[in-house]
This record gives sequence, structure tokens and C-alpha cells, in this order.
Amino acid sequence: MDILVIGGGGREHAICWSLSKSPKADKIYCAPGNAGIAEVAECVPIGVFEFDKLATFAKEKEVGLVVVGPDDPLAAGIVDVLEGEGLKVFGPRKNAAEIEGSKAFMKDLLHKYNIPTAAYRKFSDHAEALTYLREQPLPIVIKADGLAAGKGVTVAYSREEAEQALEDMMVSRIFGESGSQVVIEEFLAGQEMSILAFVDGETVRPMPAAQDHKPVFDGDKGPNTGGMGTYSPLPHIDDSIIREAVEKIIVPTAKAMVSEGRPFRGVLFAGLMISPDGTPKTVEFNARFGDPETQVVLPRLKSDLLEIFLAAVEGRLESLDIQWTDEAAVCVVLASEGYPGSYPKGVPIAGLDEGGREGLIFHAGTAFGPDGGIVTSGGRVLGVVGLGAGIAEAREAAYAKANRISFDGKQNRTDIAAKALLRQ
Ligand code: AMP
Ligand code: GLY
Repeated sequence: MDILVIGGGGREHAICWSLSKSPKADKIYCAPGNAGIAEVAECVPIGVFEFDKLATFAKEKEVGLVVVGPDDPLAAGIVDVLEGEGLKVFGPRKNAAEIEGSKAFMKDLLHKYNIPTAAYRKFSDHAEALTYLREQPLPIVIKADGLAAGKGVTVAYSREEAEQALEDMMVSRIFGESGSQVVIEEFLAGQEMSILAFVDGETVRPMPAAQDHKPVFDGDKGPNTGGMGTYSPLPHIDDSIIREAVEKIIVPTAKAMVSEGRPFRGVLFAGLMISPDGTPKTVEFNARFGDPETQVVLPRLKSDLLEIFLAAVEGRLESLDIQWTDEAAVCVVLASEGYPGSYPKGVPIAGLDEGGREGLIFHAGTAFGPDGGIVTSGGRVLGVVGLGAGIAEAREAAYAKANRISFDGKQNRTDIAAKALLRQ
């Protein structure tokens, strides 16, 4: 079967790489892809919002499956459009993708079905929001309702910071329409954990848990990014906590979506906070694979990803046997100078040539330069993955590889997965 993957980041590279190992996969196309994806798929220069062109291409090539990577085309209804053209698509329809596209929708859903999450209020009037905000204890969390490239959340530790964030979102509209409504939410203390699950309506098949590092600098300092590095599994978090998160949060949420007439089909990604007493609560839901969570989860998949996608689309997940390795994986993101602010593009990258299993390198923002060499083209440039028997070994492998890659202005965190080692 030929397949079309939509997107062009590290997540899509990991998806294409994993699909390319399936005996059932013939040609893999990726729109628009990137310079690394070009090693495992044929890149097609169509943007993720060009729904009509994507549909025409997929029909012309008679692809058996379309897989959608990023959040924004999902929120804009790409799945509905492609399905309307008779294509088989892995990903949630627009009304189900709203669980990520609107934080207010997500919070109301969880509240209605008694699913554990932080207390909250939503506002579309700045003055009302400000009055409420001033009555709340610190720290306090302020979230733009809509999508904001992973940057629409401020955890404020001072009044000034909180009020500034509210003004930026609601008055200055730094995230555009995404800030026309905001959610003000109770601060949850604890350990973060991500659980991604394959979901087809009510059936939830969780993937191994992973942990991201959102702030740009070591020690969780600096502004939030899309994610600076991940690891899986989480040796310092009890299996019973992970089971509780699946049973009390992810499964009830999938059921709630069915009850609401918005059955979710695709990857449901729960961002969770584990309180100091060991209780998981929901921080957010995403309607897609995480980036860079996917880069550490898919290398641990023993089963055939294409079979899983097809089973999810056809509603057969319940009867599928999905297997994972016991290996650990660590992903270190190499980013451009200035990220998550503005950054240069077109910077030549050296040291990429030693691929192979010992150091999978997933390209996030790369392109071919004028002389055919690989250059930077995004804020997050590469996700360097190390595998090993445990986190320590995987981490060493990832950093050894990451340190051999160079480009002007390269920045990366040096403490990815360090937390797991401290508590092991
Ligand atoms: P989100 O984009 O919703 O994942 O939020 C980004 C980050 O903000 C999360 O990964 C958390 O670190 C933090 N965050 C969001 N909501 C809360 C909360 N209620 N309490 C504490 N931290 C939060
Ligand atoms: N790494 C966080 C996300 O994909 O949303």
C-alpha cells in the first residue's frame, strides 16, 4: 500500500521511518517533508493547509492511507475534507480535534464527565478576567483558548507576570484569535508525564509513557518551546500511576467524546501532572502524536505501525496485539540560535552522516541548501535519539551523537532525562 504522511517535522520523520519498516508499506509520500524525511519517503511540495491539492494528490497516487501529523490542519478539519473525497485517513475529525483546538472545550468536557483536571474559569472579556485573576493565589496558569504553537500557556509566579500574560493574549492578541478566549487555571504542582494512546472511539491502546522538557534552558529555565527533549520509559514513575492515568483519565475521555457525538479516532495525547501524593490530573489533551514524544516512543514499537493505523481507522484496535520493547530511548533536540524567539535559517549542518540505529536522527527543521548539503530551516532542527538497556545508556548514546553534530548557533539542553536518573 502507498501512504501519504502530512507534515514536515521530527514527528513526521519518526512516523515515516516507522512506517517504512512495515512489509505492507510500498511507497511513502510526505507533504511537505524535510531533508531527513527524504531518506525514507518521497517529499511532495504541498503545504499542510492545501487540502484540495493534498486530496487531488492522494487520489491520483491511489494511496491506501493518509496520516496527518500536525495539530493545526486537524483543528481546521483536514480529515473531514479528505474523507469527503473518499480517502482513508488516520487522524481525528474536526469536531474531535477540538479537544486540542479549544482549551475551553476540553476543560468543559472534563468537568462535565468528572475527569480529574485543575480547577478553572474561562473568559472572553479582559476586564472580567483581570478581576478574577486578582483574586487568585499564585502561582496561577493562564492559557490562550486556541492553538499557539505550544506557547499559549503562562505559568505566572508574580502578579505582574500574570497580568502581562492576560493582556498579551486578550488585548495585544499576540496569538491572534487564539487569545479571544482564555482559561485561567489552578496551578498543579508535581511531575509531568505524557501518555499517547491509539484510539478508535472507545478503544484506548496506550503507548509507553514519555516525558518532555518544555523550557528552553537547563533546569527548566527560560521560555517554553515546542519541546527540547524527551525520554521513555519513566523508570521513576510507578506503573500503577500510569495505569490510573489510563483508566481514570484517557479511557473516560475517549468515552466522553463518543457520548458527545464526537468519537475520537487517531492519537489522543494526554499531558498529565502527577501530584506529590501520586494522583494524576489532566493538564491538556492533544489530538495527535507529540513532538518530540513520538521520536522516543515509536523506536520502542515492535509491532507494525501501518497495521495499527489501519486497525484504528477500521475500528479494529481492540483485537490488535501491540508490542513494545523494554529498551529506553532519549531524544535531545538541537535547536537554532534564538529559538523559541526568531532564529536564522539556511545554516549548514555538519556531522550528520553517521546514521544507523546507534543514533537515530529525526530531522525537525532541515532543508537542502543551494549546494545540496543539509541546512537548518526551523527553530527545532534535529531530534537525536539514543537507545539503550536503560535511560543512562540511552542518554549517553543520544548525547554522544548530538555532540558530534555541529552548526553555527546550535543550542541544546544538557539535562534531558537527568530527572529520571536522580530518582532511579
Ligand atoms: P500545555 O501547552 O497546556 O501543555 O502547557 C504547557 C506547560 O505549562 C505544561 O507542560 C506544564 O508544564 C505547564 N502547565 C500547564 N497547565 C498547568 C497547570 N495547571 N499547573 C501547572 N503547570 C501547568
Ligand atoms: N511536545 C509537546 C507537544 O507535542 O505538544
